[in-house]
Amino acid sequence: MDEYFFPGMAYETMPLLRMELGKGKERPPVLRLVTGGEHREAEIPEPEKVLLRTLSPAGDAEKIRTEILMMNAREGAKDYGLISIGGKALLVWAPTVEGTEALLQGKPLPDEGPAPAGPLAGRIALITGAAQGFGKGLAEHLAADGACVMIADINERTGQAAVEELKEKTGNHAITFVRADVSDSASVDLMVRQTVFAFGGLDLFVSNAGVLKAGGLDVLEEKAFDFVTHVNYKGFYLGVKYASRVMKKQHEAAPGRFMDIIQINSKSGLQGSKRNFAYAGSKFGSIGLVQSFALELVQDNIKVNAVCPGNFFDGPLWSDPKTGLFRQYLEAGKVEGAKTIEDVRRHYESLVPMGRGTTVLDVYRAVRYLIEQEYETGQALPVTGGQVMLR
Ligand SMILES: NC(=O)c1ccc[n+]([C@@H]2O[C@H](COP(=O)([O-])OP(=O)(O)OC[C@H]3O[C@@H](n4cnc5c(N)ncnc54)[C@H](O)[C@@H]3O)[C@@H](O)[C@H]2O)c1
Repeated sequence: MDEYFFPGMAYETMPLLRMELGKGKERPPVLRLVTGGEHREAEIPEPEKVLLRTLSPAGDAEKIRTEILMMNAREGAKDYGLISIGGKALLVWAPTVEGTEALLQGKPLPDEGPAPAGPLAGRIALITGAAQGFGKGLAEHLAADGACVMIADINERTGQAAVEELKEKTGNHAITFVRADVSDSASVDLMVRQTVFAFGGLDLFVSNAGVLKAGGLDVLEEKAFDFVTHVNYKGFYLGVKYASRVMKKQHEAAPGRFMDIIQINSKSGLQGSKRNFAYAGSKFGSIGLVQSFALELVQDNIKVNAVCPGNFFDGPLWSDPKTGLFRQYLEAGKVEGAKTIEDVRRHYESLVPMGRGTTVLDVYRAVRYLIEQEYETGQALPVTGGQVMLR
């Protein structure tokens, strides 16, 4: 069989190759990089050794080659493949994640049946802060609609648990996890690379990870202000910096395709929030970034937009009994006369013209709209039940 040699780095080569292999097909294939351990390119050993180490018993490398040859002969196409990259890593691909895994493990290829169905089949999504809350809910909808989903979160335990739960719920096995701190440049770089190594590219980056520390000027400490700014504002910049690098490569190979960067912002990015200035400032600032990145990346067919949800009362950010906002706001005295958590909740619900908080489905519908439309960029879309309106 053909074994190609690519001199470039895997994270640059894979998006190009995926676009190339996807030309004239309904969807691009899933690519998977084989390495011995951590996906750090500098540490990737020689392909042959990696292959033998990954497989058991040793010697199955030949079995994989034969398997790939047979599959391609049967299909009459090069849908299954093997490539060595820079003499450092090995790239294996098949039309589905299950097929790719089977090749890697030297198992017979499964009877693949119909490829994952859904309007987003063949798209690769990376979503930060997706171990819980809005992020996890959005990841579930994306997976149910057929996308390959990388869940990134600083919390490894809840992140891994979310992967297992969502695979079970959606029947989509193209869901995986990477631990990442969105406020740390090296960590974000690795997060994006791992997404490319896991699936072959990146079509949708959802910057969702966010934190909130409430408190007025006399209460909130500088350290808390920096923390919120680093995660919500700088974290968005870092995500776009590395995600756009991959997307630009894809644009080189397939200039007609649109890609999306979506920030989960907030109604507090459109209207000031009393005794909550650190959060509101980070969200207002992020809309400035959205507009600026939109102008810069439009030439690469990358749309950059924000969704600005109202309050997600049922999510852990509000409802966690110990650290939730209902408790924080009660203790910060944000709601005059409120004596219990229920008083605080009732107060916030009464501020929404539609009388309820925002749900995951409300936000997902906005995300889908932003992906589907091809004539909007740099927008901040409110999803607030009428609570906050654009001027
Ligand atoms: N909950 C709401 O009412 C509401 C309303 C409007 C907008 N939002 C926005 O929606 C997004 C998600 O909010 P949520 O309510 O689901 O929050 P959440 O607290 O339930 O979940 C946030 C997730 O982000 C992760 N995270 C925190 N810091 C991180 C970091 N440095 N790197 C990587 N991951 C990190 C957490 O581990 C957690 O899993 C945030 O940007 C938030 O500002 C929330």
